[in-house]
Amino acid sequence: MKLAVGQMEPQITSVEENIARVKVLLEKAEENTVDVLVLPELCNSGYVFQSSDEANASAEEIPQGPMSSELLAWSKAGRMVVAGICERTDKGLYNSAGIFANGEHITTYRKIHLFLNEKSWFQSGNDEPPVVEFNGSKFGVMICFDWIFPEIARVLALKGAQAILHPANLVLPYCQDAMITRSIENHVFTATANRIGTEREVAFSGHSQITSPKGQRLASLNGEEIGITVYNIDLSMADDKMITNRNHLFDDRHPDLYSRIIQND
Ligand code: ACM
Repeated sequence: MKLAVGQMEPQITSVEENIARVKVLLEKAEENTVDVLVLPELCNSGYVFQSSDEANASAEEIPQGPMSSELLAWSKAGRMVVAGICERTDKGLYNSAGIFANGEHITTYRKIHLFLNEKSWFQSGNDEPPVVEFNGSKFGVMICFDWIFPEIARVLALKGAQAILHPANLVLPYCQDAMITRSIENHVFTATANRIGTEREVAFSGHSQITSPKGQRLASLNGEEIGITVYNIDLSMADDKMITNRNHLFDDRHPDLYSRIIQND
């Protein structure tokens, strides 16, 4: 299974230009016979909005919108793509990930943990993050700042995800290293597709990467590159949850002693 992450520099509110930039990555992924491609968060719209009107003007409905249509078309050839999309709905705007495979819209994940000013434009998602099946393998999806809440990666792993697909627009410097820990503590692959560039004085860190269940960085891009990086992974590696021959990552838990983490106060 060829898994790839795409790295790009979206332009704030320039929907047409962003579609053109995504198409360059889709073509590269096609040339490299990629099976599953992850693209950055909010790749249709850019990130640093100055008003709700600006966010709304860049948003689209999933799957009717123009970015979704491109992704659907690309996925038709037996492929899956997960991309961050500024989504417009009857209930407001969401920072979402559209999941498209085999020419169909599989589902949409709406980001649960909003970062900083995202709280001014977006509603937070109310649904558990999804695990989708594609070509016999299981993929979980979360978005950017969800990384700092280890509960999300754990829930995805408990739902059977073998790889966590992670569109991102990273600002803080910790995530790429933290995803190594998310991999080790859940024995899953992770694929973080980040953006680059500075938008309205906010700098994004690139360094998109794919990590293994043993915490290796299998593939990565640097802080400036635009393009994709591909790794041929054996997802069944993620099914082994033994951390030593007497320790199972899930069976050794004592959830009765962790009830505090599901209380609100
Ligand atoms: C982020 O969640 N985009 C930092």
